[in-house]
Amino acid sequence: MKEAKMILRFLGHSAFSLLSGSGHRVLIDPYLDGNPQAPVRADQLTADFIILSHAHGDHLGDTIGIAKRCGALVICVAELAGYLAAKGLKTHAMQIGGAHDFPFGRVKFTSAWHGSQTPDGHYAGLAAGILIWMDGVCVYHAGDTGLFYGMKLIGEMNRIDLFIVPIGDNYTMGSDDALKAVELVNPRVVIPMHYNTWPVIAADPEAFAAQVRSMGKECLVLQPGEEIRA
Ligand code: NI
Ligand code: MN
Repeated sequence: MKEAKMILRFLGHSAFSLLSGSGHRVLIDPYLDGNPQAPVRADQLTADFIILSHAHGDHLGDTIGIAKRCGALVICVAELAGYLAAKGLKTHAMQIGGAHDFPFGRVKFTSAWHGSQTPDGHYAGLAAGILIWMDGVCVYHAGDTGLFYGMKLIGEMNRIDLFIVPIGDNYTMGSDDALKAVELVNPRVVIPMHYNTWPVIAADPEAFAAQVRSMGKECLVLQPGEEIRA
């Protein structure tokens, strides 16, 4: 990789922050105040952009409060963008398969096998995965999803540096399917997410990491609050 300047921080569950070398602050699925494992409170975070995979409460999370306080632009599928715009947020509506260049880098939404509805019961379009290119690093945050063979195409068409994949089972892939996803996507580094937040998604990330490493791939099990320079 070239000049790797981007800093990625795990905020628990499926929430991450990305800080670009140019100083842009991006949040993904900022579910903090409802998450007992969150390392910070929502009001301790600042963001210029918030990217959402879908509208479930553990992903939409504290988006509205953070975006209103910081004036952040929320990037998500059109139906969810419409819901958030009606609440007064600045939004950028996209749809699965489309990409767009933002000041911090490029975003493309991928498919994800999952549902999507806001916590107060509004239809929110399709759930998505997220591809982000920042500072020469390609991140694939799979969102909430079951295993699907299209991941192979995503991996073939994009050199994925960081593959952030759910392993908690029940609502998403479990570890066995996530291992197959790693094989399909063929990333440089794997980061597990969406596990151990509640008993129903209990998983052993170290056992998963050991299996990923036995495939010859790097796997980083991040603790909530831990950051890496990608
Ligand atoms: Ni969900
Ligand atoms: Mn979820």
